[in-house]
Amino acid sequence: MAERPLTSLNKADATLEVALRPAAFAEFTGQAKVKERLEIAVEAALRRKEPLDHILLSGPPGLGKTTLANILAGAMGGTMRATSGPTIEKAADLAGLLTNLSEGDVLFIDEIHRLQKTIEEYLYPAMEDFKLDIIIDQGPNARSVRLSLPRFTLIGATTRSGLLSAPLLTRFGIRERLDYYTAEQLRGIVLRGAGLMGVETDSQGAMEIARRSRGTPRIAGNLLRRVRDYAQVRADGRITADIAGKALEILEIDSDGLDEMDTRLLEAVIVKFGGGPVGVSSLAVAVGEEPDTLEEVYEPYLILEGYLQRTPQGRICTEKAYRKLGLTLGRSAGQGRLL
Ligand SMILES: Nc1ncnc2c1ncn2[C@@H]1O[C@H](COP(=O)(O)OP(=O)(O)O)[C@@H](O)[C@H]1O
Ligand SMILES: [Mg+2]
Repeated sequence: MAERPLTSLNKADATLEVALRPAAFAEFTGQAKVKERLEIAVEAALRRKEPLDHILLSGPPGLGKTTLANILAGAMGGTMRATSGPTIEKAADLAGLLTNLSEGDVLFIDEIHRLQKTIEEYLYPAMEDFKLDIIIDQGPNARSVRLSLPRFTLIGATTRSGLLSAPLLTRFGIRERLDYYTAEQLRGIVLRGAGLMGVETDSQGAMEIARRSRGTPRIAGNLLRRVRDYAQVRADGRITADIAGKALEILEIDSDGLDEMDTRLLEAVIVKFGGGPVGVSSLAVAVGEEPDTLEEVYEPYLILEGYLQRTPQGRICTEKAYRKLGLTLGRSAGQGRLL
């Protein structure tokens, strides 16, 4: 998966990110409907003294999938064991994880779309009947043994739910998609983070950071840390709109929060493909990214913000995108053209 420039963290930042992570539903801002449905599922499972149904959380990076998985495990009173699709290399790795769970625990598999097919097949009976079929011995002595597993909850997270196979997808009783946050919600998240970090921040300062965070709490947290640095070194430590603006300018953070890949993508549509329509695979080649990543990580925000449109013929850039890049839309030709 492509690392966004602002999501690569050094060690101190990574520790801070964990410290800022909301630990309970009450501290988790936004995603109101998703949150309500999950809270109801937890409450119902607790009342019935049953494990929580398996849950798939999807959505672009940094929106709170891992955070929610932790909150869910905590709310159920279980422990969360975290792993990720690419790190489970052999069936034995999965067997080890599953047999070490206790009743009510959560097994969290991040990037579950990257799980190998053969391993995925071991998961089916585990998810459905809490059974694991393992093969012991080799050659003529090979035989399959069925192990009983504790009743656990699998929480899968993915940025690309479209890549999950139907058999895996349908074994998740609860499937939720997280959406980008509004600037107002991010302002709240920034203020909460600043409070936890002990950094005095006024409402306008927080809004300035929120507006440029690409709808993403993780980016908001990262920007907050960088603005804090600036405020401490170049000012009196307090974050105001003026200080935030200056800090973000030095960081070359776009005033609308677009990152380098976003701009590259819009530029490609306009400059290389005359504004579109262009198919996602041609666009992917032009910017050197996988089509699925474009579709599930980058495009949703650009579409939400009105820079890009998906049409049956392909992607087209809107006038807003031309303005953003300081280019002019040639209307007479009926499509984008550089003047
Ligand atoms: N709803 C939220 N409220 C407050 N902070 C959040 C929220 N969602 C995410 N965060 C913050 O953003 C960071 C990234 O969230 P994470 O759960 O790791 O995203 P994902 O797993 O979807 O990539 C977390 O460390 C947390 O501090
Ligand atoms: Mg995560």
